[in-house]
Amino acid sequence: MTQVQVALIPGDGIGVDVTRATQAVIAAVQTRVSGFSIDYREIEAGAGLFAREGIDIEAGGEVAAGEADAIFLGAIGLPSVRHADGTEISPHLRLRDRFGLYAGVRPVKAYPNAPQRLADPRSAQIDLVILRESTEGLFYSAAVHGRSEVIGDEEVRDTLRISRTITEKLHRFGFKLAQKRKSRGKPGRLTCVDKANVFTSMAFFRRIFDEIATDFPDIERGYNYVDAQALDLIRRPWDFDVMVTENMFGDILSDLAGGLVGGMGMASCAEIGDDTGLFQPAHGSAPDIMGRDLANPLAAILSGALMLDYLGEQHHCAAMSEAATRIEQAVDDGFAANALRPCEFGGDMGTQAVTAAVIDALA
Ligand SMILES: NC(=O)c1ccc[n+]([C@@H]2O[C@H](COP(=O)([O-])OP(=O)(O)OC[C@H]3O[C@@H](n4cnc5c(N)ncnc54)[C@H](O)[C@@H]3O)[C@@H](O)[C@H]2O)c1
Repeated sequence: MTQVQVALIPGDGIGVDVTRATQAVIAAVQTRVSGFSIDYREIEAGAGLFAREGIDIEAGGEVAAGEADAIFLGAIGLPSVRHADGTEISPHLRLRDRFGLYAGVRPVKAYPNAPQRLADPRSAQIDLVILRESTEGLFYSAAVHGRSEVIGDEEVRDTLRISRTITEKLHRFGFKLAQKRKSRGKPGRLTCVDKANVFTSMAFFRRIFDEIATDFPDIERGYNYVDAQALDLIRRPWDFDVMVTENMFGDILSDLAGGLVGGMGMASCAEIGDDTGLFQPAHGSAPDIMGRDLANPLAAILSGALMLDYLGEQHHCAAMSEAATRIEQAVDDGFAANALRPCEFGGDMGTQAVTAAVIDALA
């Protein structure tokens, strides 16, 4: 029996509902796939806590998160709760930095009976991953780090940082991900998305991509400039498998790609570092719908599957990997049978009904 500990941060608004939905689905899959147990260590963090006690994560919460085998987060923040300077609390960004979660994995997949924004019938085949470097790039200068060079009221300079250490790890992660997808019947192709024609930093990013590629001769590689990639994600997204890119480019492209196959309620996300991984739906706390059973929990549930897949690999536990596959398959089957009809897409199913339908599909 493999035992793992998951640090659970439900957070604010719909974050709490989608976290509970994910736990319910994982508990249901555990009744069908034996061989592992999960001990949840719940950590309070978010705008609610900040409004009450002036701290954005409970005392010792960051350390406890790091001690667990993985971290699952619902959503954090409420627009009405802010620091004196007007910025929102963001303990989750500190976790990303603290644990060096460089590999941001954003899967984008079309499901039957879910919205497809492109008229071309090939959009039903969209099944890709944007791998977004998540600790440096242009976000090296994110306001939270205080690294912008402010020259009076006349000029502001932000720095785009590409380091060899992180870029090597990122590209290696990308090639391994392409290998894993290939072993699961997907194309297993890795495209380097950059702006190497204009920026020295991006030429460096591409040079390291080529260096790492020599260790993965079985993986087909491609190159695209980021502007052409934006065009291609509209023109022919079905031709791409895994795309690896700098932080800011990945931030923009992953939202664009997510929009092709539905909305925020489908956008799952893994952020992985050397020692731990943080798994969360890409959406926020959705204050406009919170407390009304309207949130689509599938982004969170699919992030839970990404977490089980990660833990299965880390702990060499086939049962956890199998559980991850079963959850993904249940979502596939549920959509195919039109048994998943989230309100988010104009359907008749709220958070609890969608969760129950995924659990039914597991059977
Ligand atoms: N990682 C995070 O925790 C995270 C990410 C983004 C935003 N936030 C925070 O969340 C708060 C709200 O931000 P926002 O409104 O810009 O973004 P949001 O993602 O919360 O909501 C954007 C829109 O998408 C809808 N939506 C989001 N998730 C949905 C779901 N699962 N099902 C159905 N509809 C869904 C919302 O109703 C809203 O109309 C802010 O405080 C923001 O800082 C947190």
